[in-house]
Amino acid sequence: MIYPIVKYGQEVLEKPANPVAEFNSNLEKLVTDMFETMYAANGVGLAAPQIGISLRLSVIDVSVGEDPKAKLVLANPVIVSVEGEQTEEEGCLSLPDFRAKTPRPARVSVRAQDIHGQEFTMTGEGLLARALCHETDHLNGKLFIQHVGRLKRESIQRKVRKLMKAGEW
Ligand code: NI
Repeated sequence: MIYPIVKYGQEVLEKPANPVAEFNSNLEKLVTDMFETMYAANGVGLAAPQIGISLRLSVIDVSVGEDPKAKLVLANPVIVSVEGEQTEEEGCLSLPDFRAKTPRPARVSVRAQDIHGQEFTMTGEGLLARALCHETDHLNGKLFIQHVGRLKRESIQRKVRKLMKAGEW
């Protein structure tokens, strides 16, 4: 099932999400739906609050469906270490058509649980490091515009308000 994606301005995107407590078939179904929703939107990552569900759950695939081994499910992820810096254009499915140069660590290690509740630690670099930070941020009620300069952030917020007023958001 493809969910509609919640856009910036909705409260669920700006509050900390609830921990995943039950690793059952409902969670498996939700993860399947999240991948489907993410691929339909051509995204490389999706967090549960982006479909209106306040759960610490995200999916990532930086290969955009090309490599089955690139599919990642992270329940209750915590960033445990960061290294270096990279600044690239970043976007978000909840802020469609807005992109901005966003500083992120070059290398990130995350501890999380898989779909069965099994704990694991993984490290990503480059785009994967960026996605791990971006999706973990979502679970803490944070969006990428909070990492960009004030002028750029305010310009995006102004444009969103205009779109909201015009009923186009
Ligand atoms: Ni996002």
